[in-house]
Amino acid sequence: MNLRLRFRNGMNITKVSADSVVLKSADMNDLHYKGLSSGILAVFDKLSNGGADEDALSRLVVEHDGSAKLFGYYQFIYGLTSSALIAHHLYEDSQPIAAIMPIARHYKFEQKRIDPDQVYQFSKFAYVRQEDGDFVIETPRGCAKVYLYAEPAFTLWRTLATGHSLNDLAALYDELDSKTIKQFLNLLLNAEMIVSVAEDESTIETAEGALEMWDFHDLLFHARSRQGRHNNPYGGTYRFRGRKQSPPLVKSYADHEPIALPKPDLDALKQGDAPFTAVLESRRSRRTYQDDAPLTFEQLGHFLYRAARVQQMHQPGGDMPDISFRPHPGGGAIHELNLYPIVGKCEGLAGGVYYYDPLNHTLKLVTPHNEYVQRLLHIGWMTADRRSFPQVMFGITSRFGRLQWKYESMVYAATLKNVGALYQTMYLVAEAMGLAAVGLGGGNSDLFGLTTGLDYYEESLVGEFLLGSRDPNGQEW
Ligand SMILES: Cc1cc2nc3c(=O)[nH]c(=O)nc-3n(C[C@H](O)[C@H](O)[C@H](O)COP(=O)(O)O)c2cc1C
Repeated sequence: MNLRLRFRNGMNITKVSADSVVLKSADMNDLHYKGLSSGILAVFDKLSNGGADEDALSRLVVEHDGSAKLFGYYQFIYGLTSSALIAHHLYEDSQPIAAIMPIARHYKFEQKRIDPDQVYQFSKFAYVRQEDGDFVIETPRGCAKVYLYAEPAFTLWRTLATGHSLNDLAALYDELDSKTIKQFLNLLLNAEMIVSVAEDESTIETAEGALEMWDFHDLLFHARSRQGRHNNPYGGTYRFRGRKQSPPLVKSYADHEPIALPKPDLDALKQGDAPFTAVLESRRSRRTYQDDAPLTFEQLGHFLYRAARVQQMHQPGGDMPDISFRPHPGGGAIHELNLYPIVGKCEGLAGGVYYYDPLNHTLKLVTPHNEYVQRLLHIGWMTADRRSFPQVMFGITSRFGRLQWKYESMVYAATLKNVGALYQTMYLVAEAMGLAAVGLGGGNSDLFGLTTGLDYYEESLVGEFLLGSRDPNGQEW
């Protein structure tokens, strides 16, 4: 048999007494096995050291415990496999060529029925990457990785870029044992990395159904930023603690002159502002402005103060980063989002890109108005249905490092959720102030980086929001 069973990567097996064993792995609770027979202990030993095929493992049990214990062994090995603890390694001429590695609790491994004439093709969701010097195929569809170690695995995998059956592959590569080809297809099927191609050339990924509608990157993002289909570290793991400092709460732009922004009278607003329910009920996305009376510098100051300033700062001490509390919520109170007013037309403020310092409630000019600034505004205008030309567009960036310092696997998802929370707060403040506001669904992060000199990987645009003076006769829909 060319398929050997072995504990999956990352498992640590310790014998704690003559008949008990503990299995440890960073991604699960310890598993204790007690009262094991000498045959099962020998199986444990084989699964930890080099592995063996099913026949060899059964023989070990018979040798140690007698054939009466075989049924118990089958149940035992089935339990290990269905608990996603066992990897299957495919061998050709005693050399490992590929392996399927479980990465999630719902993993199932079974011998798939393979019709020799059934055509299979590599999935549109599967992709290859390098990991610790190995080629690894991953997919957001399955619960396993497949490792490619040596030929003929690479050749077979490449050939499956277009549809081929077992018979096609055997004819193409007649020097190969067809059992090896069959087992390779079996591994890929168990990992959901190949799909059956129907006579009309459709697959489950292209035929009508939910999968047809998914983009590769969206499904990958969904699967890897949620729990369930991977065993990557997840949540607040503080992986950079002691290695790197988190980026600070606010950026300094030390050599830029601060422009103090006007503040609203909050006490007066608490008494006289529009009631919350009235604001909530009247809020709409508004894209048309009163061009002869644009947004003013004072309104911009009041808006930023009410929606996005730091209300309270908290310094936990040690190497823990400062956190803050603001009118809008933010995961972990980390507040990695920054607001950059991109000013087209604002009474009392020159055009250009500014950084909003939410701690000191000041603006700092980052880039005076130029052709790039104009292009950013133009994109905002096109995205908001080509109505009024933007008066102020807020570029919302994420300083990813602030979240990455604490969280793992979910950083980008978290930052987009924070954008949503900020959008809603901005919408409500704009409505309460009688302004016109609309959140946008996309923009050009590279162009913003070019305009401001920001490093794409440290801080990129993740949202944009338009604000202007409301045209009382504006037609919204
Ligand atoms: C995340 C998000 C993205 C949006 N993207 C756009 C956009 O790109 N262009 C646009 O004109 N409106 C955009 N909008 C506004 C929606 O079209 C608007 O909220 C929706 O039509 C409902 O109308 P309402 O906001 O008046 O309730 C967006 C809103 C949100 C929350």
